[in-house]
Amino acid sequence: MGPEGVLLHTYYGPRLPDNAPALADGRVPHSDPGCWPDLLPQELSGSGTADNRTPAVVLEYADGTEAAAFVFDRAEAHVGKPQLPGLPMFRDGNGVETLSVFLKDAGGLSAEVRYTVYETEDLITRTVVYTNTGAEPLTLHKAASLSLDFTPDALELITLNGTWAAERTPERAPLRCGIQSIGSMRGIPGHAHNPAVALCHADTTETTGEAWGFAFVYSGNYLIEVERADAGERLVMGIHPYHFHWTLAPGESFTAPEAAMVYSDQGLGEMSRRFHNAIRTRLLPPRWQDMTAPRPVLINSWEACYFDFDEKKLLELAQAAKQADIDLFVLDDGWFKGRNDTSSSLGDWVADTRKLPDGLPGLCKKLNLLGLEMGLWVEPEAISPNSDLYRAHPDWAFAIPGRTPLEIRQQYTLDFSRPEVVDGIWQQLDTILESCPLKYLKWDMNRSLAHVYNAKLPAKRQGEVYHRYVMGVYELQRRLTEKYPGLLLENCAGGGARFDCGMLYYSPQIWCSDNTDARSRLVIQYGTSLFYPGCVMGAHFSTVPNHCTGHISTPEARMAAALTGTFGFELDLTKYTEEELAALRPYVAWYRKHGALLRGGELHRLVDPEPNGLGAAWMIAAKDGSEAAVFAVGDALSGAHGIASPNSRTRTLWKALV
Ligand code: GLA
Repeated sequence: MGPEGVLLHTYYGPRLPDNAPALADGRVPHSDPGCWPDLLPQELSGSGTADNRTPAVVLEYADGTEAAAFVFDRAEAHVGKPQLPGLPMFRDGNGVETLSVFLKDAGGLSAEVRYTVYETEDLITRTVVYTNTGAEPLTLHKAASLSLDFTPDALELITLNGTWAAERTPERAPLRCGIQSIGSMRGIPGHAHNPAVALCHADTTETTGEAWGFAFVYSGNYLIEVERADAGERLVMGIHPYHFHWTLAPGESFTAPEAAMVYSDQGLGEMSRRFHNAIRTRLLPPRWQDMTAPRPVLINSWEACYFDFDEKKLLELAQAAKQADIDLFVLDDGWFKGRNDTSSSLGDWVADTRKLPDGLPGLCKKLNLLGLEMGLWVEPEAISPNSDLYRAHPDWAFAIPGRTPLEIRQQYTLDFSRPEVVDGIWQQLDTILESCPLKYLKWDMNRSLAHVYNAKLPAKRQGEVYHRYVMGVYELQRRLTEKYPGLLLENCAGGGARFDCGMLYYSPQIWCSDNTDARSRLVIQYGTSLFYPGCVMGAHFSTVPNHCTGHISTPEARMAAALTGTFGFELDLTKYTEEELAALRPYVAWYRKHGALLRGGELHRLVDPEPNGLGAAWMIAAKDGSEAAVFAVGDALSGAHGIASPNSRTRTLWKALV
């Protein structure tokens, strides 16, 4: 505790022994009551009260004052973890303990800062429940989930940046004085940055040194700021304050989404492995946490057909897929009423009987007869101006009165902050799933939000809409996964524009990128692996020249990239000869045999891919060291490849492939 009850941050580093004296041994430098609040390492930073670094909380009381300074009220520790209403989170379970520290501001805002410790996984999650304990309404303008103060420490910041088809390329740079930030105001995290960052020292390597990793369990607008000031570094993570304001009547609360934190003193590799382990065992839907349970090897129709198909063509593709021993056929975009290009039909989730004469159930039956399960693509949040849904409910799409609605990819976005809109789409999806035993659903989201305005809410509540939108997405994914627990949900957003821990609570895999070129994928998947395990990375073997880049890469390189992700195929296999199809079978068999290791093993990044994607090596090893698969790709373009192995068993595993 600091002066006047300010809750000070004491320590976040290597695990301490029980009752460690370090917690009181003077690591907190500023316990002098006369010291400047600017210099205090705080657990929850306010604003307007002389802590002039970037705040965690900005608010406005009914009298127009905006000051907030939090002091200790009380603390409670208990076994387990409370559910966050309507929000994803690392799950409750064995060995989980929560500490709630209640802080209060003199104006009437109370903040329950909640820490949950996952001892086995070495993970701490944190959130804040903000409650108006005063007699008048107050408005939150910034309500962060995490603020963490470091004592001065010359840290470096690692972020994952990119664009469409080149998502999550790591960038590491020393912190400059002032604020560095990444974030999104697109309504989804977007392609440009990922809502996860790491801090480390200049000499931290893959295997040595300290690293602190932070991942936001949220799928909408976010802001991650890191400020370097004379008092040290401060990290603040939370919902982006842009167009966020949330008024709390007396007694009302707002729960900020969760942030997850990992510390490693064995370099970035160990930081990643701790995240991977925690995501696999505590975040994914329980049904998909068992890494020994088989996952279907799928073929996706997108790069094989795009919009140009009929049932005959699909069944030919399915037959070829069966010859390659593939398990599941995913019918991507183009299957619904009148959808032949991007100009129409989103929102009309009814089969186009010109392409599918017996509808989805008919196609499903035929696929099942061929020995394949069926999966389907949908884009539930989207609506085409040219659709029956839009003609019936034009007001369901985001639009600001007096402005021309904004089309991107010839579509609008449905206002999922409105429960009746979510209900309408749920009814359509439920009808499909009731009629057709689908085993897989790809949920896509192909544009960022714009003209965000909820026609049902008053002006002063428009600042809730971005967050309520995300809550609507979560609500629909909750309904889908609860009513159809066997359904394998894969999220996607124009490739990997919504790749975050929030989505992983509902779907055990996310499409990594629309770029399936091995050369690019080595970079994208390497960056992704800083926080997210391979078992969640949607990755498919595709054709050459690659549709996105035009590159020709070796089958081995393409296989290596796909096998370390969720492993599927996305190419026109009807063009393959019988021998070529048969040649794919050993890869599928190899994945089936070693899938548990590939999904559940520990990743060791051995050689980072060059920025141009030439060459990379990585190992996936069983926790007990009994087996490991080592992948090494030399020049993916010229066809060279090599597999190194620390033990003979690994050599045997991969040799079959090369
Ligand atoms: C997005 C997805 C692709 C594909 C298309 C269909 O771009 O990322 O995989 O599903 O939409 O329109």
